[in-house]
Amino acid sequence: MYYEQLFGTIGFDGMSSLMYHNHRPTMVKEVGPCIDLAPDIAVGNNLTSRMLKGFNVKPEKDFLDSRKVMMLNSDIQIGLAAPQKSLTEYFYKNTDADEMLFIHQGTGTLRTIFGNISFEYGDYLIIPRGTIYQIEFDGSDNRILFAESYSPIYTPKRYRNWFGQLLEHSPFCERDYKLPENLETHDEKGDFLIKIKKQGMVHHLVYASHPFDLVGWDGYNFPYGFSIHNFEPITGRVHQPPPVHQTFETDSYVICSFCPRLYDYHPLAIPAPYNHSNIDSDEMLYYVDGDFMSRNNIEKGYVSLHPAGIPHGPHPGAYERSIGQKETAELAVMIDTFKPLQLTKAAIELEDPDYYKSWLEH
Ligand SMILES: [Fe+2]
Repeated sequence: MYYEQLFGTIGFDGMSSLMYHNHRPTMVKEVGPCIDLAPDIAVGNNLTSRMLKGFNVKPEKDFLDSRKVMMLNSDIQIGLAAPQKSLTEYFYKNTDADEMLFIHQGTGTLRTIFGNISFEYGDYLIIPRGTIYQIEFDGSDNRILFAESYSPIYTPKRYRNWFGQLLEHSPFCERDYKLPENLETHDEKGDFLIKIKKQGMVHHLVYASHPFDLVGWDGYNFPYGFSIHNFEPITGRVHQPPPVHQTFETDSYVICSFCPRLYDYHPLAIPAPYNHSNIDSDEMLYYVDGDFMSRNNIEKGYVSLHPAGIPHGPHPGAYERSIGQKETAELAVMIDTFKPLQLTKAAIELEDPDYYKSWLEH
């Protein structure tokens, strides 16, 4: 006798998988403490362009302790983490939010109830809400951009045909996904701590059987990886709008990948982009690698926030610099949220306070 569990989202309407457990997934032995992880908000109403020096975030040994929320609204929390040790002593699940972990530095294995996904520089790891996981790092110098999403993270519908297959013009395809492999089927009983995040609190529940006890599963709701290096950029003779970089979609924000690509190839094109008024969304940009043509004085791990309501655009000198350039090596992750973002105290500690004046000509 195996114990079947339906693992689904959006009530019974969304993606789901069926899991088959060795033991009942309901055997709670002990309910321990409940710890408040709600971030401290420093700026509730923001109309200032911001720049955070992300690599200055404090490394921490524990994976959960290392996760520092930088920006948030009622749909998403965005943060940075520099975990030094693997998460192996307990299990973790987030019941409220799908998680996106973007691996900027470090390699290792995401161990989940569905199997394991090895990761490296440039991987997005998408972990549906409710997935029990651990994470093992090969070294201690790890850098992660993370997002906790209160609506499911999907790939854009417009990239898919009526049946759901990715179309040829999609910038990625099914082959690019890193699926969970090497299912771990544990049959042990004992004390297994799962730290469960719900409503900003972390509950400590001890279960009587090993959480990774599936003998098998199938379905469409499972964690997966996708490398930003496999995103095939869409380019044109004239400037292509930011949606060509879209990688993931939700009801409340989008995630875009800015990858090395050819610049606009019309003979009279000026490759640096226009100034633009993102009236409907706050734009967070995380700088991963390469030369950021439209920005001055940017380093790896920097995070910019350009709030809805005021235009932003290339820095002085960027247009001139861009003329005649054929390609860019920039690599960046953008998250555009439809509701304004608040900033935490942890974010303000990393801030360059003069950034908002950086478009003034000297
Ligand atoms: Fe922008």
